Amino acid sequence: MNKDELMWVEKYRPKKLNEIVGLRHIVESVQAFLKNPKTMPHLLLAGIPGTGKTTMALCIARELFGDNWKTFTLELNASDERGINTVRDRIKGFSRYSRASFGNVPFAIIILDESDQMTRPAQTALRRIMETSSRTSRFILICNYSNKIIEPIQSRCAIFRFSKLNKTAMVDHIKNIAEKEKLQVSSEVAEKIIDYSNGDLRYAINALQTAAAYGEGEITEKTVLQVVGEASPKQVQLMLTRALSGNFSEARKMMYDLIGQYGFSGSEIVRQVQRELMKVSYLTDSQKAELTNIIGEYDYRLTQGANSDIQLSALLAQFSKFKK
Ligand SMILES: Nc1ncnc2c1ncn2[C@@H]1O[C@H](COP(=O)(O)OP(=O)(O)OP(=O)(O)O)[C@@H](O)[C@H]1O
Ligand SMILES: [Mg+2]
Repeated sequence: MNKDELMWVEKYRPKKLNEIVGLRHIVESVQAFLKNPKTMPHLLLAGIPGTGKTTMALCIARELFGDNWKTFTLELNASDERGINTVRDRIKGFSRYSRASFGNVPFAIIILDESDQMTRPAQTALRRIMETSSRTSRFILICNYSNKIIEPIQSRCAIFRFSKLNKTAMVDHIKNIAEKEKLQVSSEVAEKIIDYSNGDLRYAINALQTAAAYGEGEITEKTVLQVVGEASPKQVQLMLTRALSGNFSEARKMMYDLIGQYGFSGSEIVRQVQRELMKVSYLTDSQKAELTNIIGEYDYRLTQGANSDIQLSALLAQFSKFKK
């Protein structure tokens, strides 16, 4: 077994278009092209990481060519290949070899990942290659930023934009994987993972797998928080408000709970305090600025190796004095 098979992102990567999570509109448009492959234009799949761009390109190849898809598909990574000449040579070699058409599909597929990493001259050369090989090849260009792709290429492609995936669909997918892996994951915990994933399904699946390696069969909120490296915002917020209302010893006790329960480092807690501070509605901007200054001081001391219990206590002491 190789490493990829152990990775759940690979194990659960959809093989068919209709298994793709979210992206209904894109899937439907692509399916319409595939009904009559001759109508399929070059495609440009653009958007944020971990949302299914590469997956979709591979699904398209599979749906067109079935088990033979590898024979008729050239996968290139624009940032790996040494310059456009290599890309050109490989595409030339490939289109000569794959000229024979497959069933009713009169072309082969060239998937060019990370195409926004190509320089402008390289893109201009690519545009020419797309023109000369368009009888025998369809390109699927993949990128994060479509505005880095030159206009003449964009105008030759049908552009599909991938944005953050739908939360509910992501939660369902995570729960599905958990079930197949015989893990207990409550809806609240699945939602927590998705909250931290910010629309990136790859991140969510990796977080689930890491959490599974910690826990034994059941994944709790605590494990998830350990994996994503965050203290529970609610508890940090509570600690912060206690301190700000002058209740030093209670705030300090909560800090020890945070460290003890979750095993967070001092700097992680400081980072969370900073984030939660910005949300406190009853402080003015200048008060927030002043408190941020204090946080900066303690953050620095921690990076210098000072004892984190003492430094965090001192930070809370400063906050407790603040109102008076
Ligand atoms: N829409 C989706 N439906 C189902 N699984 C998905 C989806 N998006 C991502 N995944 C999961 O995340 C993994 C990574 O997805 P993929 O490689 O398609 O992302 P990408 O959009 O190409 O990201 P990048 O921009 O980083 O290359 C897949 O193997 C799959 O397990
Ligand atoms: Mg990709």
